[in-house]
Formats: sequence, structure tokens, C-alpha cells
Amino acid sequence: MSQNTKPSAEPEVMEKIVSLCKRRGFVFQSSEIYGGLKSCYDYGPLGAELKRNVKAEWWRSMVHEREDVVGLDASILMHPDVWRASGHLAGFTDPLVDCKDCKNRGRADKWPQVAEGTEVEYKVIVDHQSGRKETRKGTVGKLGITCPVCGSPNTSDIRRFNLMFRTSLGSVDNIDTIARALEGRNLSGDALKAAIAEAIGETAVYLRPETAQAMFVNFLNVQQAARMKPPFGIAQQGKSFRNEITVEHFTFRSCEFEQMEMEFFVPPPQYCNAGEKNDMDWFAYWCNERLDWYARLGIRREKLRLRPHETRELAHYAKACSDVEYEYPWGWGELEGIAHRTDFDLKAHEKASGKKLTYFDPEKKAHYHPYVIEPAAGADRTALAFLLDAYTEEPPSEMRKEGRTVLKLHPRLSPIKVAVFPLVRKDGMPESARKIVAEFWKNGINAFYDEKDAVGRRYARQDEAGTPYCLTVDGQTAQDETVTIRERDSMKQDRIKIAEAVEVVRKRLATQV
Ligand code: GAP
Repeated sequence: MSQNTKPSAEPEVMEKIVSLCKRRGFVFQSSEIYGGLKSCYDYGPLGAELKRNVKAEWWRSMVHEREDVVGLDASILMHPDVWRASGHLAGFTDPLVDCKDCKNRGRADKWPQVAEGTEVEYKVIVDHQSGRKETRKGTVGKLGITCPVCGSPNTSDIRRFNLMFRTSLGSVDNIDTIARALEGRNLSGDALKAAIAEAIGETAVYLRPETAQAMFVNFLNVQQAARMKPPFGIAQQGKSFRNEITVEHFTFRSCEFEQMEMEFFVPPPQYCNAGEKNDMDWFAYWCNERLDWYARLGIRREKLRLRPHETRELAHYAKACSDVEYEYPWGWGELEGIAHRTDFDLKAHEKASGKKLTYFDPEKKAHYHPYVIEPAAGADRTALAFLLDAYTEEPPSEMRKEGRTVLKLHPRLSPIKVAVFPLVRKDGMPESARKIVAEFWKNGINAFYDEKDAVGRRYARQDEAGTPYCLTVDGQTAQDETVTIRERDSMKQDRIKIAEAVEVVRKRLATQV
């Protein structure tokens, strides 16, 4: 990626990205014609390609280019006991809180912290028709938080809210089930809640909140079928669902998203051979490898960092954890987490299922539970970071009277690899251009034909789509079977032979890794 121009100033860049995403067909609001659905997004023609490319690059580097990692594609619905054993049913919760004044609802841990007893002033709307506000005073209570919208210290108590979406499996209607269970019983309060929970609990299943658990419960299936020996990994990509209280920053945090996770099983320290990487070496290895992956695919180094978690942030079973962070327009935030999960998950599932989940080491003649290092990334968040980092506004220059907007995506991620234009719609130029496009398709390169508007407008459209190369068939083509090739970032143009076009583009795409 060319680094000679600075991406435009933040924070407007976020608004510009959202607008570009809609205008050019990267991302749309889900069910837009019905007013949209909270925090659900649809990927349009360019976005679908971008996300497929992100996932393909991840799969390539995590599975195809390694001997020690194999893939899995598990179902989204799993036995409910999986979530009981993993701790998600009891503990995958967020602290839900309501503002008693403006009725805003959110996560208590994300609300402004103010010392208990502090006197604060805040404004509440007292006339909804005119929007007239009144200033009030209040004292911060024992929760030590105020509403981020109106500033009021008057909040509800905190309720734990489970983020898993519950549904039921089988031909059952929960309303019938509940009605039958409660008929003739005069219950209220906690007894009523318990009766309802028991009634629907029989058929309850959950949309997975992470892909990871399928890799733990399939540990032995995969290890034995693929004849793997620790250290080895199981990788998976797929949809996950979380009923997030706070959804924010476009696709950064949404309720339906795709994860790219890998569980890397390593011998615990006592079974590690001298001179081989131990569990903490592997943890460090994966932190660096994952940080590098983003940089290799074009994200500027200075916008990436590794943030080791402090001890108080670690889950009770975790030995270490680091986040790969990106500097988003709103500040540093998580792109991916790399966790050392010890043997917690395998032991938890072994205990709950009663099925052994150990590896038998034939050299040491010992059964052990491997430790797990887990790099867990999100495809949507990653695609957003690539878009943000690639978004560049260039001012007018000697070469161009007008400024331009260009997505300087790494060519491997670009939705379209090459666009082919006839300079004008006559003299056999469209036919030649279509033939070239067909040749690219035959060779597995995503090419796009465009004959609408002046050629300058067509270049501009492809710059905004992140297309690295544009080929133009012009008057000279009929004479010498050559076309121009224009490179997106430098805008430099050369002439190449049509017969060599596929090879030239293939070589340039391959050398840009
Ligand atoms: N198995 C571990 C795990 O799921 P996580 O940090 O909760 O860890 C991993 O999730 C990654 O999944 C995050 O780094 C992020 O990229 C993505 N992710 C998590 N929640 C998300 C959400 N609500 N919306 C979009 N992406 C999300």
C-alpha cells in the first residue's frame, strides 16, 4: 500500500465510511425499508467480496499454509449442556441498568463513573412536544455512575442480562408450553419466573455466542480423525450471536457477527519436551503472528498494537491474554483477543459429559489435557478496520484537477481485482474488453466490465471500490493488441499486451503480499 498520503482527519472519517459503504454497496442497514433492525447489517456486492476475502486470507494463513492446524465447520445450534459446562448459561452476562429520568438503558460498566455522594447537575426533558429541558440536581448513589445521555444519577439497580439468544428446538410454541405449565397455578414473582424457566427449559437451545466451544467438544474427534499430535490447532469461521445491550460504531459491535477462531492445543509444561516451545512461548508466538497478519495485509503498523491484559482483567482460568488493538476513529479498541485458556474448557466438558477429553502421548505413555492458546478474531470488525485504514482522500494534484477518494486496500482484499473498460462504446472496443474480462474469469480473477460514463468517472468509481488495476481498450488496441493498465495508488499507466494481461495482473497480485 502506498503510504505517501495521509488518510483524512477523524472523526468524520466514520461518517464518510458509513456513507461510502451504502453508496458503493459495501454494507447496508438490515431491513432498511422497514426502518432497519437494531445493529444488524447486510453486506452488499462489494462488501460480500471484501468479507469473503478477509475470511479466505485468514483461512489461508491459519489452515492452508500450516501443517499443524486443521479446519472445522460446526453447527450453530449445540446441545444446551455445552453452554452449561462452558459457563455461558450462568456467567455470560452484562450488567444492565436503566436511567430513571430519560429511560436510557445501557451497560453499567460503560456508564461514566462518578464518586458516590457527588452532587451533579443534569438536564431532563420536561415537555416532549417542545423538547423543553429543566436543570435538576442530584446525588450519585452507591453504584457510582451517571447516565451518559442526560447525566442523571437516578438509576435502577443492576440486573445481570444473559447475552445468549434463546430459541427452542422441535415443533413447539413456547407460548403454548408456558400456558400449559401455568394453567390453574396461582404463581407470582420468583416462583412464576422459575415455573416459566422450567417449562421452556426442556426444549431450549441457544444461538452460539462464540464458535470456540464446538472446537473443544470436537477435540478428540478431530485429533483422532486427522491424526494430530499437540501442538496442533482447530480453526473455525462462522456466525455468532450476542444480544448486546450496547451496540456501537457500525459493524464494530453488533448482535449477529462472524468470528474466525482457532484453538491451539499444546502440551502442558510437565509434558513439554526440553528445547521445544512451551505454552507461554506458543502464547507469545500467536500474539506476534496475529499482529503481523494485519500488517501484512496493509494495516499501518502505527495503528496496531498488542495490549496485554492486566491480572484483574483475566478470566479466573486464564494464564494470560492480549488484545490486538487498532486505533479506530473513536480511539484504541479490540480487533482480536489472544487468550491462554489453560485446560479449563476440556476439563469442564469432560466433567459435564462424562467423556474423556485427554490426549494420549505414546512417547510419554501418559494421558493429559492439553493447554489451549486461542486467537479469536471477528470478520466484521476486521473488515471494518481494513476499510477505515484504506480510506484515503487525496487533494487535487498536477496529475489530476480534482481530488479523489480511494480505498487503498491490499489487492488480496480488494473486492474487484481488475476492471476493464472500452474507451468508447464503438469500433469493436466493447467486444475486445468483454473478451479480456472473460479471460480473467476463466483464470479465477474477479474482473468487472464497465462502459458507462467518461473513462475518468469510471477510474474514480474503481478507486472508491478499492480496485487495484484498471485496463482500458483504446484506439491503439486494434492495431497492436495492447491495452493500458492503470495502477490505483500511483495512478501510473503502462501499455501491456492483451495476451499477457492475465499473467501481468496475477504476478502483481501475488507479489503484493
Ligand atoms: N472465544 C473467545 C471469544 O469469543 P471475544 O473477545 O468475545 O472472544 C472474539 O470475541 C472476537 O469476536 C472479538 O475480538 C471481535 O473481533 C469479535 N466480536 C465479539 N463480539 C462482537 C460483536 N458483538 N460484534 C462484532 N464482533 C464481535
